[in-house]
Amino acid sequence: MLTFQLQATDPHSKARAGCITTDHGQIETPIFMPVGTAGTVKATHQYELTDDIRAQIILGNTYHLYLRPGTEILKKAGGLHRFIGWQRPILTDSGGYQVFSLADSRKLTEEGARFKSHIDGSYHLFTPESVIDIQRAIGADIIMAFDECPPWPCDERYAEESMHLTHRWLDRCIARMQTTEPLYGYGQSVFPIVQGSTIARLRRESAEYIAAKDMPGNAIGGLSVGEPPELMYEMTDLVTDILPAHKPRYLMGVGTPENILNAIALGVDMFDCVMPTRNGRNGMLFTTEGIINIKNRKWAEDFSPIDPAGISRVDTLYTKAYLRHLFVADEYLARQIASVHNLAFYLWLVREARSHILAGTFPDWKRTILPIITRRL
Ligand code: GUN
Repeated sequence: MLTFQLQATDPHSKARAGCITTDHGQIETPIFMPVGTAGTVKATHQYELTDDIRAQIILGNTYHLYLRPGTEILKKAGGLHRFIGWQRPILTDSGGYQVFSLADSRKLTEEGARFKSHIDGSYHLFTPESVIDIQRAIGADIIMAFDECPPWPCDERYAEESMHLTHRWLDRCIARMQTTEPLYGYGQSVFPIVQGSTIARLRRESAEYIAAKDMPGNAIGGLSVGEPPELMYEMTDLVTDILPAHKPRYLMGVGTPENILNAIALGVDMFDCVMPTRNGRNGMLFTTEGIINIKNRKWAEDFSPIDPAGISRVDTLYTKAYLRHLFVADEYLARQIASVHNLAFYLWLVREARSHILAGTFPDWKRTILPIITRRL
C-alpha cells in the first residue's frame, strides 16, 4: 500500500515537499520520473539512472509493453522490475493516451478503445478491466486509471461527455483493482486522472469526482496538449485547490523546466516528460547555465565541461567540443551522454526545488534560477 507524508508546505506558494512510500522504496517529492516507455529509459543504463541521475522512480507504458514483449513474457520474468533489472518503484501509464497518439486507427466505445498496433497492424481492445490486468502483470507500483485525453481544442460538449466516460471507466478500474490481487507479492495502487479539457467548470467537477474516490494519489491529465501555458496553469491551480493535500498529485506529461517549477508552485508533486531524453537525442541540452544546441559550430572548440555544476558524471568527464563531435559524427555515445545529462539536470532541478521548499526559500530561488536555466546559450 502506497502512503504519502507531507513534510513541508511553502508559506508563499502552494509548493510542497513530501515522501511517497512504496514496497519498492521511497520517493522524495517533488519528483521527476524518467520515461521508460518500452522497458528502457532510452539510451541509459539502469545503473546510470540510480547512481548518476539519482532517479527514484521510472515510467513504463501499458500500450508498448502489452504489444511487446507482451504480458506472458513479463509474467514469466516475474514482472517488469525483474525483467529489466530495476529495484525501485515503477509507474505505468494506462494506454489510453498512447492509443490515441500512436495506434494507426482507433475507435472509442463505452466498452473501451479498439486500436490497430503501430508495430504489426494487429487489432486489439483495451478496456478499463484489461488495462488493470495488464498493469497487474507488468507489476507497476503505481497503476494509472484508463482515461480519455481529449484533443485541444475540443468543444465543450465533447469535453463533458469524454470526462464522464473517463469517470465511468475509473469506477470500472477501481472495481477491477478490488477484485484482483497483485501477482508478485508487493502492493499496487491506482491513481485516477482528472480530465475536463480547459473548461474550468468541468475541471472542478472532475477534480471533485476524483477526490471523492479517496485513492492513494491523484493525477491531472489532458494538459500540455497544445493549449497556451497560462491555461495549463489556470487548470492546474484550480484542480490542486480541490484534490486532497495529503495525497500526491501527478501532472501527466509535463513539461519544460519552466513548466515544472511553475507547477510545483501550484502544488504538484510528480512529473514525467519525454523532453529530456527526446530533446537530448536531438542535441538539445538543459544545463545549469542555460540551454545549448550542442550541434552548433560555436561549441566546436569549447573544451569546458558539458555542465560546470557537475550534476552527472558525464558533465565533467566530457567537454562540449567532444560531445559536439560525437553528434556531428552521429555516434551512439552522443545520444547516451546527452540523455544522461538531461535526465540528471531534471532530477537536479526537482531536488533543488525540494530543498528550497524545505528551507522556506522556494519562491526566491525560483525567481533567480528561471531566467538562467531558460536562456539560450
Ligand atoms: N500523459 C499525458 N497526458 C495524459 C493523459 O491525459 N492521460 C494519460 N493516461 N496519460 C497522459
